[in-house]
Formats: sequence, C-alpha cells, structure tokens
Amino acid sequence: MSPRPIRSCTLNSNVKQSNGTASKKLKVDSESFSEEEVSEDSYQCSSEDEEESSGDLSSESEIYNNPRRAKSNNTLKTPSKATDASHDPPETPSKSFSRLSIKCLTPSMHTRTVNISKPSTPLQEARSKLHVSAVPKSLPCREEQFNEIYKFLHGRLSDGSGGCIYVSGVPGTGKTATVNEVIRCLRKQVAKGELKEFQFVDINGMKLSEPKQSYVQIWKQIEGESKSWEESLRLLQKRFSKPTAKQGMTLMLVDELDLLCNKRQDVVYNLLDWPTKTNAKLVVVTIANTMDLPERILMGKVSSRMGLTRLTFPPYNHKQLEQIVISRLKGHDAFSGGSVELVARKVAAVSGDARRALDICRRATEVAERNERELVSMMDVKLALDEMIASPKIQAIRHCSEAEKMFLQAVCVEVNRTGVEEVIFKNVYYQMKPMCLMEGQEVPNSSEVLAICGRLVSYRLLTCDNPRRDILQKILLNVSTDDVHFALQNTKF
Ligand SMILES: Nc1ncnc2c1ncn2[C@@H]1O[C@H](COP(=O)(O)OP(=O)(O)OP(=O)(O)O)[C@@H](O)[C@H]1O
Ligand SMILES: [Mg+2]
Repeated sequence: MSPRPIRSCTLNSNVKQSNGTASKKLKVDSESFSEEEVSEDSYQCSSEDEEESSGDLSSESEIYNNPRRAKSNNTLKTPSKATDASHDPPETPSKSFSRLSIKCLTPSMHTRTVNISKPSTPLQEARSKLHVSAVPKSLPCREEQFNEIYKFLHGRLSDGSGGCIYVSGVPGTGKTATVNEVIRCLRKQVAKGELKEFQFVDINGMKLSEPKQSYVQIWKQIEGESKSWEESLRLLQKRFSKPTAKQGMTLMLVDELDLLCNKRQDVVYNLLDWPTKTNAKLVVVTIANTMDLPERILMGKVSSRMGLTRLTFPPYNHKQLEQIVISRLKGHDAFSGGSVELVARKVAAVSGDARRALDICRRATEVAERNERELVSMMDVKLALDEMIASPKIQAIRHCSEAEKMFLQAVCVEVNRTGVEEVIFKNVYYQMKPMCLMEGQEVPNSSEVLAICGRLVSYRLLTCDNPRRDILQKILLNVSTDDVHFALQNTKF
C-alpha cells in the first residue's frame, strides 16, 4: 500500500469522528493557546471565541452532516484544505498572534534600572576628566589660535560685516574644541549685553548623509522649518543675496568641511560664497583636516574666496600633550611621576593627537584599577600601550606580507597628503613606487598591486565600495593611520 491512501484514510476517520475527538482536539488547542500565549484581555476574547466555537461545533456536526459541507470536508484529504479547516475563526491563532505582536512590537526605550554611579575613587575621577567628551576648563597650548579666531569673529560680528575663516590641522589638534570655546565666549558676551545678538548655525560634514543635506540643516536651524534641499537652497540664496533690513548677523560653523566636497563642489562653493555677498551679514568658520584643500580640491574661484583668513593648528609636541593631560587632571593625583610623560612622548612620536593621549591615559587608569593600584604607574601605562599593540587590527597588519605593508603605508601617505580618508588607487600606487625604490625593492606592476589591494580588502584592513579592480577605484583605510604607524614601527609603541 502506498503512503498516500493511508494518510487520506486517517484524515477521513478523524473527520468522521465529528463532535467527538475532533471537537475535543479543537477545544484543547484553543485552551492551551489562550492560557499560554494570550494576555488577559485577549484571553477573554479567546473564551468568547471558545463559546462561539462550541456553538460552531454543533453546527460543525451539521457541517459534517451537510452533504455540501461534507463535500468540502472531503477536500480535507489534501493538506491545504485541512489547514483551512483548523483555521476556522474561533480557533485561529492568527488573531491572538496579531494582538500579541502589536503589544510586543510597541517601540519603547530601554530604561536604565540603576543610576550611573558618580566617580568615587581618584582613578574613576581621573577617568571621567580624561574623557574626550568632557569639556575642559581651559585649552592649554591653544591660546594663540583662540585669540586669533576670537579677534576675527568678534570683529566681524561687531561691525556687521561678513567673512570666512579657514581652520585646518591634523586630527586631535584641538580645532573643534578651540572654535567651540570661542563661540561659547561670544555667546556669553551676548548674554551680558556686550555684543550684539547673532544667530548661530552649526553643521558637521560627518553628521550629514550627503553634502546637499547641509542646506536642509542650515535652513532648519535658521527658520525652524524642514524643507527639501532644493527649496532650502533657494531660500538660503534669497536670504543671503537680498537680506531684509531687520535681518541680524548669522555665525555659521562648518566642521569637517572636507566631507562636504562633492564632484561639483557646489556645496562648499555656496558656503564660502554667501559670506562674501554684500550685506549678507554672515560669518563662516570652516574646519578641515586638509591644509591646502582650497588649492587642491576646490576650483580656482572657490579657493580665491577662501584665501581670506587661514589658521593652521600644528600637531602637539610631547610637552604640550603632557600639559594638556595634566591640566585636565588638575586636583586629581591619579598618575605617578613620569607616567603621563611616557604617554605624551609615545603619542607625540607618532601623531601629536591629543585625543589619542587622553584615550591611552584613560585606559591606563582602567589597567591600574584592574591591578588594584591607587595610582597609575609606568607599568600600567606600558600595559595599556601593549594592549593597543595587541589589538587584532595591529596584529593583522604585523602579519601582512612586505608588499602589503608597503601598500598600507602608501595609503597612509596619500591620506595625509590629501587630508581625505577616501583615496584613489592610482594615487596610492604613485606613492608606493618611490617607497619600493627607497627600500631597494622591485616596483610591482599595477595588476600585482591591485591584487595586493584586493587581499587587504579581504583582511578588512581596507574597504572598497566598488570592487571593480581598476586603477581608478576608491579605497578607504579601515584602521587609523596611527595604528598602521604603530604596527609598522620598528620601535615598540
Ligand atoms: N589644548 C587642549 N587642551 C585640552 N584638551 C584638548 C586640547 N586640544 C584638544 N583637546 C581635547 O582633545 C580632543 C580632540 O580635540 P578636537 O576634537 O578639538 O580635535 P580636532 O582637531 O577637532 O580633531 P578632528 O580633526 O579629528 O576633528 C577633545 O576631547 C579635546 O577636548
Ligand atoms: Mg574636530
């Protein structure tokens, strides 16, 4: 006997039991479902449903007796109809499920059950002071830059003229912190009535999904309305070319300007063009990593407008980094003699990035805590540095072949040269050639280097959106340039 007749036979016998086994089975199913899965109110619904279902069950017997229905029940032999039968409205789980899912899927914020404990030990205090998001009371070693930006902005805001200042420097040199401090000072003066009121607009290339979104953000901050980028641009053009008599001064901060460069460079062009318009009453502060961005990336007409006031933030040396960390720790003796200096020297040797120095010191406080020490010792700093070196990314770089290491180094050189994180393969290849010659190695051809690049993408040390494998492909370093330097330095960092 083939399996199919046996199955149809069983189904038939189940159906023929009518009120008996079949109805019991249905009832049990609905009960167990409502008890286990459904909340109180939905349970009531289920009970009602159940009553309905018992009513139905009598009709169910009718169904079975009714030849037409019986005909339809015959079709229960096929699995699909059998499913239909078990999905009669009262017993169907779908209703309860939909109720359940609505309840379960209601979006809610995860609430904190325990309050964040305040720092109680000197090490915890130091850690919170060293956090990069903590606003320091002062910005040592940036007094000169602070004064220059302050003089420029204060002058333009007081005499009601427009203008633009271009601030550049490598990461972690205090550009954002210094400009924000100047703006805080100016706002305090407005509050005291010492300076005319101005409207402040703040955009950051890193926070925008695409350069054109900057128009939307600017208009939203000025007028509080959300418009499309085209409409926002039209309104902004109008505002800055035909200002109304009652329009006050606007101060605009554009951080991470490099990221607003698109192919047409129209966004950067507009941002720098508006302050030059007569009576626009707009002062713009732009912050970028690249020093010569106007000359290299922007069109001539844009760079000529930007050549007004420039300010470069140099990387910190070890003494300055030490001073920055110590000034943040004022009043908290958490580091033993020489330990901050060690961090400062190590960071200054590679990048002069204050953010990195602060992060290493914070990690050292955690190491000290783990080792149950009250003060951070030289040993803890060394362990923190070693941990950074032992990171998987650093290890991955260290285990690369000579050619792969060389390519990574060339990517870093190109990133530093352009100040933009996304670089073009062809330019990296140009950087790599003299490096090979310097090391006395044969220069690989472009196909070999494309293969090297592909391997680094597969190790996740590089990323590449368009793996088309040609010399114009764009590549992005998936580790910090600092990490590459650490990993490839002969001396231990
Ligand atoms: N002179 C300083 N004194 C105290 N803290 C500083 C100083 N310079 C930088 N920092 C701190 O270092 C961190 C990085 O600084 P900031 O964000 O200003 O750097 P940046 O130059 O804007 O870097 P990026 O180019 O990556 O945006 C911040 O936490 C900042 O408070
Ligand atoms: Mg910044």
